Amino acid sequence: MTAGTTLGPLAPDIADLRRKAAATLLRNWRGSATVPTGTLYPHQWSWDSAFIAIGLAHLSPRRAFAELTALHGAQWRDGRVPQIVFNPAVPEDAYFPGPAFWRPLPRQGPPAGVSTTGLVQPPVHAGAVLAVADRHPGDAADAAVHRLYPRLARFHDYLFERRRVASGLVAVVHPWESGLDNSPFWDEPLGAAATALADDITGLRRDLRHADAGHRPTDDDYARYMGIVAAYRNRGYADDDLLSLPFCTVDPLFCAVLAWSEQALAELARRTGADPGRHDERARELTHQIHSRLFDPALGCYVALDARTGRHLPKRTVSGLVPLLLPDLPARRREALLATLTGPAFGLGSPPVRGVPSYDLTASDADPHRYWRGPTWMNTNWLLWTGLRRQGETRHAEHLASDMIRLVADAGFREYFDPVTGEGLGADHFSWTAALLLDVLAHEPGGQGWQR
Ligand code: SER
Repeated sequence: MTAGTTLGPLAPDIADLRRKAAATLLRNWRGSATVPTGTLYPHQWSWDSAFIAIGLAHLSPRRAFAELTALHGAQWRDGRVPQIVFNPAVPEDAYFPGPAFWRPLPRQGPPAGVSTTGLVQPPVHAGAVLAVADRHPGDAADAAVHRLYPRLARFHDYLFERRRVASGLVAVVHPWESGLDNSPFWDEPLGAAATALADDITGLRRDLRHADAGHRPTDDDYARYMGIVAAYRNRGYADDDLLSLPFCTVDPLFCAVLAWSEQALAELARRTGADPGRHDERARELTHQIHSRLFDPALGCYVALDARTGRHLPKRTVSGLVPLLLPDLPARRREALLATLTGPAFGLGSPPVRGVPSYDLTASDADPHRYWRGPTWMNTNWLLWTGLRRQGETRHAEHLASDMIRLVADAGFREYFDPVTGEGLGADHFSWTAALLLDVLAHEPGGQGWQR
């Protein structure tokens, strides 16, 4: 391998990796959408589908657009795109909490007969649609963009209108909405939330049948997740008075992805003949808020905010590096972020660290095996790789790409990886690992080059 990465002389067999990635996505295709993995997550997940579409673009743009079209078919009348769309063919007890837990879905919910959760996930979708359309320009992409743009715009309207907290930032009302369920960011607000179902939570959980308990959130986490989600469900998933919910936080990854996708939405609007003005304006305003409200100079990264207490949550997590995706990053801010990324906390470019871990490696409570409290994940690494390239940081981007390729070549298409040993963790045959690897590989020699 030469240009594109720093894989060195023992480069993995790229063609073989591509074949295996494609086989993983085929294995997980369920006729109209892709499951994250057949065992642990047997339904359609929102941000998984966006990442999956980015990978499917390298195999079949038709299928990439079908994936996102299926997801938006479950869009709620109020505009929210649900975190999970349940497959009616899968038994109720295959996943916890399954479809019955989320009912009754309110009048502002999904189309009749469609079963979903009442939460959202990070809005990667508009960015994904633009990426797929750019890779395969033509009539089919134009038609898909025309079809999806109004749906994407309604989802963003929901987030900006219903989830905006006083500061102008956009809030999540459950750790599951952040996508980084047991991130150390949420320790303080979760600690203050009541638990539910505490007595029998272990028996109810289905995840522990498919993954090592040491790789997953704890029972105490789950008891609190259930308490928070029950409170939201019991008020009909209403977003009035957000601060009276038991959990309401601002997450830098969620907001940065929203600003990035809002920019993509402006471009999609231009392509459909719609007015891009409000998207440009919202992207600018949110970007400004992220830069001015969420940066912690002492930690050298962005941090979360507890909207209920007004307190910042001062931890170094991978979420706090994702604003690298954003434009208008002042040079000194960019330097600070790069110093954090390449310093002892995240270790980019310092073997044996591989990829960017989900949490500060030097923190006393870092756990290299437990979900979002240490392991390296492909989706957050892809967001950082995309951000580094946007910032013109080609050398760091190349190093990160090499790490991502090596992790998968050595451990397989796992859900996440030990950031130091590279051991594969969580589920196997994981769709976004395969999809995002395909995207990274497309920038290898013989792929389409470093053009985006
Ligand atoms: N990540 C959650 C789970 O582990 C759901 O989004 O089930």
